[in-house]
Amino acid sequence: MPDRKTVLTCAQPTGQLHLGNYFGAIRNWANMIDDYECFFGIVDQHAITMPYEPAELRKSTYRMVAAYVACGLDPAKCHLFAQSHIIGHTELAWILGCLCPLGQLERMTQYKEKSQRENAGFVGSGLLYYPVLMAADILLYNADRVPVGEDQKQHLELCRDLAIKFNNTYSETFRVPSVDIPKTGARIRSLQDPERKMSKSDANQNGCVYLLDPPAVIRKKFKSAVTDSGREIVAREDKPGISNLLNIYSAATGRSIEKLEAENAGVSYGDFKSKVAEAVVDLLSPIQERFEAIVNDKDQLNGILAEGAKAAQKVAFKTLSKVHRKVGFVERPRI
Ligand code: TRP
Repeated sequence: MPDRKTVLTCAQPTGQLHLGNYFGAIRNWANMIDDYECFFGIVDQHAITMPYEPAELRKSTYRMVAAYVACGLDPAKCHLFAQSHIIGHTELAWILGCLCPLGQLERMTQYKEKSQRENAGFVGSGLLYYPVLMAADILLYNADRVPVGEDQKQHLELCRDLAIKFNNTYSETFRVPSVDIPKTGARIRSLQDPERKMSKSDANQNGCVYLLDPPAVIRKKFKSAVTDSGREIVAREDKPGISNLLNIYSAATGRSIEKLEAENAGVSYGDFKSKVAEAVVDLLSPIQERFEAIVNDKDQLNGILAEGAKAAQKVAFKTLSKVHRKVGFVERPRI
């Protein structure tokens, strides 16, 4: 299938995946693996731009591979790779960085936010350079589509700027990726504060349902979910709690909001919350089983990453040698 278009997206191997990650991103990626040549990167080199624990990073990387596979990113149909395994990401980032105005990096929202956070006063240069490395991640694979969340829009725009700048400076080389923020995919909000996105940094952890939460924990979190005044079960602006629960219910079952509203007319909030919890338990149980079956199988996980690296490296070397030629580096000796 040489003519398939390329999809690339990446995520940091931090912490645990939650329902928002699954419905908002991973499930949509899984739906693309039959139609696109998909590369899914675990960006461990990005993960060291903030304070972290090396042992945790290694563990999270393996767990992320296991979670992705469990969520349907079948390694026989897509390429799962670790960024640090591929020669080319940091090399290309260096070259792109030489074209990138310093001021543009200093103005990036995420840099400003993160550099002001409780870093014990330390801001590494990697944090400033983060978006250049991300641009390299994308351009290295000449991706046609780069599905990302709304929060990555500014980074993607920088990537486009750098691709255009490179093409103008050296001649047409990179495909300029379009900003691809999928409209599909439910936006899941905190069960405790439905005005905010579900997030692992939610102050109240009852608001965030992790993919690996045991059924009893899932039931408890839904039981404590905030609802709204009144007693109708309808998705409406003045009912953010119930709307969020309906969204989750719909995403978990594949049934439309309208259908679910009709089915649950007259049901109490308490019973409704239990029904949503059961739908989520049913959805997550097989994912959890698949996860447990591979998470401790290092050989299998290493094998998946090796296969992914093989495919990714092939593309990366091709782009890198083209780039080296364009910028005037002499031919690399075969060693
Ligand atoms: N910055 C992205 C995030 O935090 C992760 C990322 C790194 C990425 N490189 C990428 C996403 C390339 C898409 C494409 O979510």
